[in-house]
Amino acid sequence: MSLCLEALPQLTSLTDRNGPTPPVQSNVKKQVQTFWQNSPCDSWFTNEARGTVDFYRSLDDHRYKVHRRLAAAVGFEKTRGLRVLEIGCGCGSEAERFVRAGAHYTAVDLTNAAVSITQRRFQLANLDGCFVQGDAEDLPFADGAFDLVYSHGVLHHTPDTARTIREVYRVLAPGGRAAIMLYYRDSFNYQVNLRLVRRLRAYLLRTQMGIKLARKFCGESEENLRRHAELINQDPAAYLEMQSILNRNTDGPDNPLSQAFSKASARRLFEQFRDIRTEIMFWNPNWLPGIGKLIPEPAEDWLASHWGWHLWIYAQKTNLEFGAERARNRERSEVETRVHWEALAS
Ligand SMILES: C[S@@+](CC[C@H](N)C(=O)[O-])C[C@H]1O[C@@H](n2cnc3c(N)ncnc32)[C@H](O)[C@@H]1O
Repeated sequence: MSLCLEALPQLTSLTDRNGPTPPVQSNVKKQVQTFWQNSPCDSWFTNEARGTVDFYRSLDDHRYKVHRRLAAAVGFEKTRGLRVLEIGCGCGSEAERFVRAGAHYTAVDLTNAAVSITQRRFQLANLDGCFVQGDAEDLPFADGAFDLVYSHGVLHHTPDTARTIREVYRVLAPGGRAAIMLYYRDSFNYQVNLRLVRRLRAYLLRTQMGIKLARKFCGESEENLRRHAELINQDPAAYLEMQSILNRNTDGPDNPLSQAFSKASARRLFEQFRDIRTEIMFWNPNWLPGIGKLIPEPAEDWLASHWGWHLWIYAQKTNLEFGAERARNRERSEVETRVHWEALAS
């Protein structure tokens, strides 16, 4: 717990450092917060009562079965004694593994729901950790407070991803490492499933028969499909815009924001870092309706590592950063943010 308090800076210096978040983006962020507060990540995969031992066990069983390579991608065994910050802890599956591996763990999440669910997990297992409700765009931690910053499927849900990466860099100690997963733009899911299949499916969902067919082949709940149908019927043109397709077809029909990055755009986000390495992972059999579940595991692994949906970025903070270099890096990232948003809007 003392490690946790050392990492928390004076709040006044936080405001001075980054300035206010732009108002339009704050509004989107409010929606992001409300969405994840009402549906904590993965909690929909279990019927066990929230906050019970069985709840956490069934979530973890499901998670590490579906994401076969996740534990290896994090490398928990190498985190003994490290100060680890997880941004966007969800229901705390990795949190528990970090602590069991001997790391000093801190969680930050935009929602009270994720923070308290993870905290409850730690209480039940009698584990130590530090839990903070806060914003990845303005991390409430001192410069250089962590040896590893880990974030899985989070930073593409916040409006200013470039700003979050600058924050990751700031809170890392010199030589510290980041392991961040973002959605991958050059994936089968983005280029084929979202761009084509989900758009065609939207036409199908306008009829009762279409909903039944989609239920059979897409592996999505009837409740979700009916919500998609409602949104399509309200405003078909708006639903079919790529940004809306991406939002609504990644984490549920009411998800307010998702973004996807190419390897090149992710590398630009991490420009301040050195030793940047990317890896592609995760394949969902439902992307090939009817045949996806027949694909043997080795073939699925091949698909995941070439056209998968998860782009992992591993990077290291340089040991030294001089004043002029810091200013130049910040300016570059701000231009990058603007270009990214202009590209999304076009
Ligand atoms: C898709 S869930 C991922 C959770 C977990 N990492 C996992 O893999 O299951 C996204 C999480 O990111 C959090 N989140 C979204 N924007 C955030 C922000 N700006 N700052 C901190 N957390 C944020 C949400 O509250 C939510 O818990």
